[in-house]
Amino acid sequence: MSIMQLLAKKRDGKVLTDDEIKFLVDGYVADKIPDYQMSAFLMAAFIRGLDEDETFSLTRAMAESGEIIDLSFIDGVKVDKHSTGGVGDKVTLVLAPMMAAVGANVAKMSGRGLGHTGGTIDKLESIPGFSVDLNRSRFIQQVGEIGIALIGQTDEICPADKKIYALRDVTATVPSIPLIASSIMSKKIAGGADVIVLDVKVGTGAFMKTLDEAKELAQTLVSIGKRFGKQAVAVISDMSQPLGITIGNALEVEEAIDTMKGFGSPDLLELCTELGAQLMMKAGLAASRQDAVEALSEVLESGKALEKFREFIEAQGGDGSVVDDPRRILPHAQYVEDLIIADSGYVVGVNAEELGVAARILGAGRKTKDDVIDHTAGIVVAKKVGDYINAGEIIAQMRSADAHSLAAVTSLVYEAFTLSPNPQEAKELIYDIID
Ligand code: URA
Repeated sequence: MSIMQLLAKKRDGKVLTDDEIKFLVDGYVADKIPDYQMSAFLMAAFIRGLDEDETFSLTRAMAESGEIIDLSFIDGVKVDKHSTGGVGDKVTLVLAPMMAAVGANVAKMSGRGLGHTGGTIDKLESIPGFSVDLNRSRFIQQVGEIGIALIGQTDEICPADKKIYALRDVTATVPSIPLIASSIMSKKIAGGADVIVLDVKVGTGAFMKTLDEAKELAQTLVSIGKRFGKQAVAVISDMSQPLGITIGNALEVEEAIDTMKGFGSPDLLELCTELGAQLMMKAGLAASRQDAVEALSEVLESGKALEKFREFIEAQGGDGSVVDDPRRILPHAQYVEDLIIADSGYVVGVNAEELGVAARILGAGRKTKDDVIDHTAGIVVAKKVGDYINAGEIIAQMRSADAHSLAAVTSLVYEAFTLSPNPQEAKELIYDIID
């Protein structure tokens, strides 16, 4: 088989076979196919698309590029969750311990930041000592012992996604339904859970900008899950403004801990509850949505979810006292600047994509494959859609280790906010559930 012929076939819009896709993925993982040829494939797939069978073949080849974790000998149901990518999306940090606290086994495989969106691994790594480098046996053991473990793609587990994900991040090939679906589902299949909830984001800050695209992605994800014999459900949620009030790694960990202590933003809490309820119902842990919501509220109010988060952080080498005093344990930005608004009015838009791009420039995301993240960098969003702001008040706060980047993003952050003399109704958060 020739890689040149395969690339030409996709470039010309033809359908690749299962063997061709496996040859491509295996060759790339084995370093026989270089980055530039994989980049050419990704761009061709981005422009020409992949059909249902090609997407399934790509998912399988990526999942089988490493070991598929077998969790079958752990008692109880094994659950996993994944987001298609958003700005300020710290749901996993709150939902995973909530799910473990209601009795599910959370076997989670996460990613790093991608494009203008954040990644759970980068967020957790802002906690001193925390590591996602668990090998397969330690991952399984930890799920069995404390009901929660989180890993990233490694050279052992889903190595194809590890390499392709990093390449897509810097080749403008992220927002493609088949590439997102195969990336996400390959990790979910390799991670070994039986029940999967997918948070499909839609809006400026998401890779899917319209509801129709988001529905297509949700359907693709759920049907791939079903073809692999998994129980999968997708929740389509708003990402036209950031979720919660912080963007950036350490900042989001702090907000997640505040949320588990009862001081969270209503949107973050609502989404965690909906995703958790869907998981509990699918997993047979609740007979109705109402029962699930009550159980999820109880683990938050009793502090069980927070204690589970501490146990999880400590099991993965992190400093568990972050739970008691996140502001003392998490790293702080060297430079902090408040952005003061010149006009008064109702906030009618907070452009999540622009804020995600600004956070990346501040250091919260990567510009090249080998960039080092600044865990302290980010933005605090002081006002959201529906709020009123007076001239002279703070609309956002920017943080970074790099003083120049603060100056570089000021106008971008400022322009992300749209004011109007007339109020606008708060945005709907959950648009649809695809089962
Ligand atoms: N999350 C992933 O894991 N992969 C994508 O491509 C997008 C979001």
